[in-house]
Amino acid sequence: MIRAKIAGTGSYIPEKVATNFDLEKFLDTSDEWIVSRTGIRERHIAAECQNASDLATEAARKALEMAGVAAEEIDLIIVGTITGEFTFPSAACMVQKNLGARRAVAFDVSAACSGFIFALANAVNYHRIGTVKRSLVIGSEIMTRTVNWKDRNTCVLFGDGAGAVVLSSEEGEGGILSTHLHTDGNYWELLYQLSGSASPSFLPEVEDQGRRFVKMQGNEVFKVAVKALSDVALEALAANGLTKDDLKLIFPHQANKRILDAIGKRLDLPSDKIFVNVDRVANTSSASIPIALDEANRRGLLAPQDLILLNAFGGGFTWGAALIRW
Ligand code: ACO
Repeated sequence: MIRAKIAGTGSYIPEKVATNFDLEKFLDTSDEWIVSRTGIRERHIAAECQNASDLATEAARKALEMAGVAAEEIDLIIVGTITGEFTFPSAACMVQKNLGARRAVAFDVSAACSGFIFALANAVNYHRIGTVKRSLVIGSEIMTRTVNWKDRNTCVLFGDGAGAVVLSSEEGEGGILSTHLHTDGNYWELLYQLSGSASPSFLPEVEDQGRRFVKMQGNEVFKVAVKALSDVALEALAANGLTKDDLKLIFPHQANKRILDAIGKRLDLPSDKIFVNVDRVANTSSASIPIALDEANRRGLLAPQDLILLNAFGGGFTWGAALIRW
């Protein structure tokens, strides 16, 4: 059987750091509140000259280098992002240009914090039907430009960054075993951001603020996210005749340490099986899972044949999982 295998991982996190103590200087908040409610201690902020496609390009270069694959060998580039610098062209088009990946077809996927998993599922299907042999799947976001820095309910939660994987079609039992995607648009109002020039003016904040920031009802998002992230993990395991005991590590979307703890409890998984880096990078939306995966990979935490699970949840609502034999 031909499967997509992860041949290389890469990530890019901007240099500039904003700690909770930095936020205390201009916001009615505290390090104690942010750490106890979210587990976040600091986030990284892109330089003014950087766009989501620049971060994506850096992450992709590192993934290509690890895979030993040249940009010209890539057939497909998919970027999960909601913060591309243009409405069009896509961030993926800019990455294709930056890398010189002349043969690659390139497009973006918009699924908020689930963007990487949705992009990955798309790419896996192209590999499965044989039209693609090598692809780049990237999650890249500059979330710190989407939040109102006067709104303590949202601005403390997010950070910037990008992560990438190179997929290669391989014969055998390993690789990406299955992907599972879900959507429920009925929840759109719990977490959204109005778009640029094409959005209708039926919501009051268009006139009130002039700028269009992320809006969120955190409590409600929290409850649905924990259930959806847990259920989709069990769905992926069941589809492959496996159980939670077979898992080496899971990489849930890094939104909030309390969400990660609640998933662990619901799935009855020990904390050392749940990868956590939200304390250092905050919620980087679609970049969060590939950044975490690259960190684990470069730290040598993954060995051949290990079973790992990626699961994400985001605005829409969207949620999904991928089960992988490393
Ligand atoms: N600093 C200090 N106080 C704050 C802050 C802050 N940064 N933010 C909110 N508060 C205050 C509120 O104003 C409120 O005060 P009040 O009681 O006087 O009205 C109080 O803290 C409690 O607010 P809640 O919103 O009820 O706090 P909660 O315990 O729910 O924590 C949080 C908020 C962290 C956002 C939580 O709901 C959460 O984690 N939700 C998940 C949402 C999420 O992670 N979204 C990311 C995008 S979606 C995704 O990635 C899955």
